[in-house]
Amino acid sequence: MTHKSSLLLSLGLSTALSLAANNVFTVQTDKPGAPIQPTMYGLFFEDINYAADGGLYAEMIKNRSFEFPQNFAAWVTYGDVKLQNDGPFERNPHYVRLASAGHNDKHTGLENEGFFGVTYKKGENYRFSVWARSPQGKAAKIRVELENPASMKNSQVDAKKEITIDSKEWKKYEVTLTPDKDCSKGKLRIFLVKPDTTPVDLEHISLFPEKTWQGHKNGLRVDLAQKLADLKPGIFRFPGGCIVEGTDLDTRYQWKNTVGPVENRPVNENRWHYTFPHRFYPDYYQSGGLGFYEYFLLSEEIGAEPLPVLSVGLVCQFQNHEESAHVPVNELQPYIQDALDLIEFANGGTDTKWGALRAEMGHAAPFNLKFIAIGNEQWGPEYPEHLEPFVKAIRKAYPDIKIVGSSGPDSEGEQFDYLWPEMKKLGADLVDEHFYRPEKWFLAQGNRYDNYDRKGPKVFAGEYACHGKGKKWNHFNTALLEAAFMTGLERNADIVHMATYAPLFAHVEGWQWRPDMIWFDNSESFPTSSYYVQQLYSLNKGTNVLPTNLNGKPAAGNEDQNGLFASAVVDKNTGEYIVKVANTSSTVQPFEIKLAGLKKKETINSLTVTTLSSADPDAENSLENPGLIMPLTKEIDPASLGAKVKNAYTYNASLEPNTFYVFKFKKAE
Ligand code: AHR
Repeated sequence: MTHKSSLLLSLGLSTALSLAANNVFTVQTDKPGAPIQPTMYGLFFEDINYAADGGLYAEMIKNRSFEFPQNFAAWVTYGDVKLQNDGPFERNPHYVRLASAGHNDKHTGLENEGFFGVTYKKGENYRFSVWARSPQGKAAKIRVELENPASMKNSQVDAKKEITIDSKEWKKYEVTLTPDKDCSKGKLRIFLVKPDTTPVDLEHISLFPEKTWQGHKNGLRVDLAQKLADLKPGIFRFPGGCIVEGTDLDTRYQWKNTVGPVENRPVNENRWHYTFPHRFYPDYYQSGGLGFYEYFLLSEEIGAEPLPVLSVGLVCQFQNHEESAHVPVNELQPYIQDALDLIEFANGGTDTKWGALRAEMGHAAPFNLKFIAIGNEQWGPEYPEHLEPFVKAIRKAYPDIKIVGSSGPDSEGEQFDYLWPEMKKLGADLVDEHFYRPEKWFLAQGNRYDNYDRKGPKVFAGEYACHGKGKKWNHFNTALLEAAFMTGLERNADIVHMATYAPLFAHVEGWQWRPDMIWFDNSESFPTSSYYVQQLYSLNKGTNVLPTNLNGKPAAGNEDQNGLFASAVVDKNTGEYIVKVANTSSTVQPFEIKLAGLKKKETINSLTVTTLSSADPDAENSLENPGLIMPLTKEIDPASLGAKVKNAYTYNASLEPNTFYVFKFKKAE
């Protein structure tokens, strides 16, 4: 990701020296403070913006089981195709019967449009599978094709295979398709091969790239999953967000519908099918193919603690204001049982009901779940009332599990002020705060956590992003302000134990919410500058906070601190002092870093600086130019530190305007 070169940091050094007294940043190296939690920087995944189906989940066929309310959504049929509803999978009973069209020159078949097209690459292998039977017990043939409909007059077939359906009973058939051309807006076509005198039944029609993350068959897109792994996240929150709550109780996220064989996982309407005033995606449904087993597995594979969020029995309060939309408190038992069963699914022995299912799915060892969140952005007295019985039941059955409560959708104000004490009363271990706020807010919140109650629950900054005023899309300036704000998270790592930017993913052709961390189309993806900010924190999180001050005060960007936000940590494992500083001003700023309190024999023998900047604050990476804004790492001659005086080194930097810096001072062995 970064590019290294060896040169002296010579930017305005003499000017810096003369002005440095204005910005003296003292790092007290001999007083390592609170440990930085391994969970500190992480990821929040929600199926919004086609993040799951059509995104991270590598399935290429939309409505593969004909279970959307319009059963042929995403399909075009021709000839004699009939919908049937007594299929082999109880929770997905629909399938199609293909029979002869009756004329010699007519065919019977169907085509799927995929998610914004079926996109395939020349020479790559794609696994086609279908559950099928020949109801009359006679062998019949289907042909499967990848076609490019935009090609010339007639569509062009880029890959094809025939399959003989020879069983009267339902059976899974699989073939590999290898196209000889690239196509971004292709289709999958299946038809009965003539003579088509014998009908066939087809169910759960699926197409996956052979290459998936970690090679899993029901797998994830490699480029997208890799970008998550590259962040080395400490926590992985899933599956939402508002989708946990649902538009109504029927459409809330129910984890039990997302485990077991994929063919039998029922579809669910996505709460994000409609977002006023941006977008309307009437056929945005969740297949459940990326379900709770896959989320736990992904967490394990990217090294993050899983943090599932479950319904507290309240539906999305933005969408539903009626009290009757929610579950009455005295009818919560099934919801509470879902939470207890989930812990058993994750951690229980293989002799337990849910632990056995986990083992059957391929993971006999426990996932070692430590955290559970109950409720997303709930508010009002109904939230603590609903949460209380969950807390009691979870504490009783699983006293070691940490419970995450919520402070509602606002970063401050009436609900926030009401909910925090309520969470404390209930004994929540962490409180999930959300803030999607404009530039001004981020510039003013550098010291947000400095005076938080140290005796209450810990903070989980569970969803946040700088939403540029009038510019609610990804651009460098918002990323810079996020970086600035995050110095305050780091300085307060004794109380802030987790932080996750939001949302994570967005499809360029199907989004409901901006800004987001990673954008993609069907074949490519790119990290935004906000992604790189998260990564710079996560890869440089250190082990302990160091006490710091900028001219005697916390470096929280306030007016008397020239828009500078800074923090420092020590990494006891690597022997590094790491200073992060965001210059949010539009002027060059002198910045004197004083590493104070060093031991007599302690010397620094290597120094690097990584910068993230953009001359144009409105600029952002894109599919066309994915590397426009990237961190750049340079080595600096340690001699520029000068002599050690009174157990302190002093390094004079000159901070470019609108730039985020990570300085790393490495101790000699
Ligand atoms: O991240 C998008 C949405 O923002 C989440 O679903 C919700 O929790 C918040 O309002």
